[in-house]
Amino acid sequence: RMNGQPKIAIVLGSGLGGLVDYFEIKEEIPYAEIPNFPESAVKGHKGSWIFATMNGIDVIIQNGRFHFYEGYNMKTVTLPVRIFKELGVETLFLSNAVGGLNPFFKVGDIMIINDHINFMFDNPLWGKNYEELGPRFPDMTDAYSPRLRQLAHQTAEKLGITLHEGIYVGVMGPNFETKAECRMFHTMGADAVGMSTVPEVIVARHAGMEVFAMSVITNLNLAPVQEKSTHESVLEEAKLVGPRMSKIVYEMISQL
Ligand code: HPA
Repeated sequence: RMNGQPKIAIVLGSGLGGLVDYFEIKEEIPYAEIPNFPESAVKGHKGSWIFATMNGIDVIIQNGRFHFYEGYNMKTVTLPVRIFKELGVETLFLSNAVGGLNPFFKVGDIMIINDHINFMFDNPLWGKNYEELGPRFPDMTDAYSPRLRQLAHQTAEKLGITLHEGIYVGVMGPNFETKAECRMFHTMGADAVGMSTVPEVIVARHAGMEVFAMSVITNLNLAPVQEKSTHESVLEEAKLVGPRMSKIVYEMISQL
């Protein structure tokens, strides 16, 4: 049902919901219609696979992702990335919501991820390696494309949008972090903490794809300013940032 040859895939995480205004849907396949495909169960995360064009460019959109905290194993969480690769995708865009650990961050800010710390105590590459999918010991230096990060900064500057850049620590969740954990993550060098993205990026890099990821700071997680967080407040903040984040991705893809 895919017609066209998309080289770009987008994982619609928090903050990118508004991207829907920028693409033209050619085909939408609900996860439920795909045999053996898992269904996303989290509120605010819909489940469908979308073939679309954006400014005339073919893209595949994963509308609804699988989180490790939902109980899916890492292979299931990253199945869509393997499918992107099989369909010929070369560049992967992702977004997510994070708690800010960097004292210079404010709620509603956007951070480009320039590196990550895997603190999820699991790995999607665990077990037998299939050489046809990628190497046993994949390199993870510059996992987040320096070229695309630079393009993001240029694009944001042109649009007058402030962007931070920083390190994402991925945790298993589903609870928000304790104050002690936040202090630890900050000491470790992380700028933001979230519950997704790391598994997908590991698999995308294993498969040789170029990766770009952006985070919405939905709450502040650095003592003494740590606030109590709820899923509702996270979704609310992500919605407010949506238009800015979507505009950046749209402009970047138009320039690729
Ligand atoms: N921690 C982990 N994940 C999150 C947070 C947080 O504070 N905010 C949004 N996603």
